[in-house]
Formats: sequence, C-alpha cells, structure tokens
Amino acid sequence: MLSVNNIDASYGHAKVLHAISLKVNSGEMVFIAGRNGAGKTTLLKSIAGFLTPSTGSITFDDSSIMGLPAEKIALSGIRYVFQDKRVFSQLSVKENLELAAYPVKVSIADAIQKVVSIYPKIEKFLNLRAGSLSGGQRQILLIGRALIGNPKLLLIDEPTEGLAAGTINDILNVLATMKGKVSMLIVEQNLSVVGMLADKIYMMKEGKIVQEINEKSEMTNKAKLEQCL
Ligand SMILES: Nc1ncnc2c1ncn2[C@@H]1O[C@H](COP(=O)(O)OP(=O)(O)O)[C@@H](O)[C@H]1O
Ligand SMILES: [Mg+2]
Repeated sequence: MLSVNNIDASYGHAKVLHAISLKVNSGEMVFIAGRNGAGKTTLLKSIAGFLTPSTGSITFDDSSIMGLPAEKIALSGIRYVFQDKRVFSQLSVKENLELAAYPVKVSIADAIQKVVSIYPKIEKFLNLRAGSLSGGQRQILLIGRALIGNPKLLLIDEPTEGLAAGTINDILNVLATMKGKVSMLIVEQNLSVVGMLADKIYMMKEGKIVQEINEKSEMTNKAKLEQCL
C-alpha cells in the first residue's frame, strides 16, 4: 500500500535522508527504530508531505503522492500523529474529538465510539480539559483522533517517548488493539515495544536504512537490535 523508493531529503543544503526505501503492506504494523537525529521524523514528514524529497518516489495505493501538499495526502487516507503530543489543552477531550470529527464529516457519537474501541477509559475523561490528561492519555487521545476519519495508514512518531513504564503499557495495549485493523508505520525507540508488536522493523542510522528485519526471533532479540543502532 505504501512504497517509498530511494528517496533523498534535505533541509536547505543539509542532506538528511539518503536513498531510503521501505514498504508497508495492507494491515501491517511496521516500525522504524534508530537513535535521535537518525532522520526518523524527517522520513515521516517526507511521506506526509511536510517536506518534499529531492529524488526518488513515494506511492500510496499505487498512486504517486510525492510532492502533493500535506492536506491532499491526508485526504488520500494517511494520518500523521506528530512527535510533539500537542492537544488543544484548554478544550475538553470531547471538544478535541469534535474538532477532528467535523472536517471528516463523522458524528461526535461515532468519533467517541471509535476512541472507546481502542481505549474504553476515555469515556470517563470526555469532559475533562485535555491539558489535564497524563502524557500517556494525551498520546492515546491523539492516536484516537487520527483514527476518526478511518485512515488507511497511520504514521505515528514516537508514541511512548517520555512516558513512564506503566503508561507505556497502556500505549502498548492500544496499539495491540489496533493491530491488523489499520496499517501503521511507527517510529519508536523503545525496542521492547517494537519487538512485541512489529511485523517488520527498519533500523535507521545517519539517514540510511541499515537493516530490515522480518524474522520474529530477530525482532524480539533486543541485544541484536541494539547492535544495529
Ligand atoms: N527543521 C529542520 N531544519 C534543519 N535541520 C533539521 C530540521 N529538523 C531536523 N533536522 C536535522 O535533521 C537530522 C534528522 O532529524 P530528525 O529527522 O528529527 O531525526 P530523528 O527523528 O531520528 O531524531 C538531525 O541532524 C536534525 O538536526
Ligand atoms: Mg524524531
């Protein structure tokens, strides 16, 4: 469904991505792991249309999406959950969901149902200010919001970053619930989380994919994964 072929991308004269190729097949949960500065966010931005690669091609459901504006790419069914975890903190959780439901013409009841299906506890928080949620709950709200328009592919940037161990488990459960229902490309540095959920892992280093891992026994071998970083 998503095919990234040999892309390079730069900020000004600084080239950050070098000949990146990857594939996400329908229903797959694919991870990108790598240290800070490896270029993981730049890769997601390039797929989502916030940065245009200088060479290569990106196709989604067999159509070229490279060079399209981010709104067009979103309309084609790709949703991007940014690394910054920003919610509308002064608004309630419900209002945050309403803002996501309106542009995709989904009723608020259906939108809430969608989020409840991955995280039933959200019902208790609907009238709370989104800014009062914990980091993990905010992350789940953002993932839930991205699901409202029934995307075909979700890009999620570092869902467990900065979260306490107990909360990471909540995210793990949410992602496990979503697995197979929507295709996902997830940037994640927590190799335990990656090993538990991945169908495929791309290890990234200095703007390049240095390894593709498809074998479950290798995905759960943390020491081996760490060697690739
Ligand atoms: N907006 C930007 N302008 C210039 N350089 C950037 C920008 N964003 C990221 N970079 C640089 O690109 C490289 C890759 O960054 P990034 O994609 O954010 O890595 P990661 O997400 O793997 O931590 C880093 O060297 C970073 O300093
Ligand atoms: Mg990043």
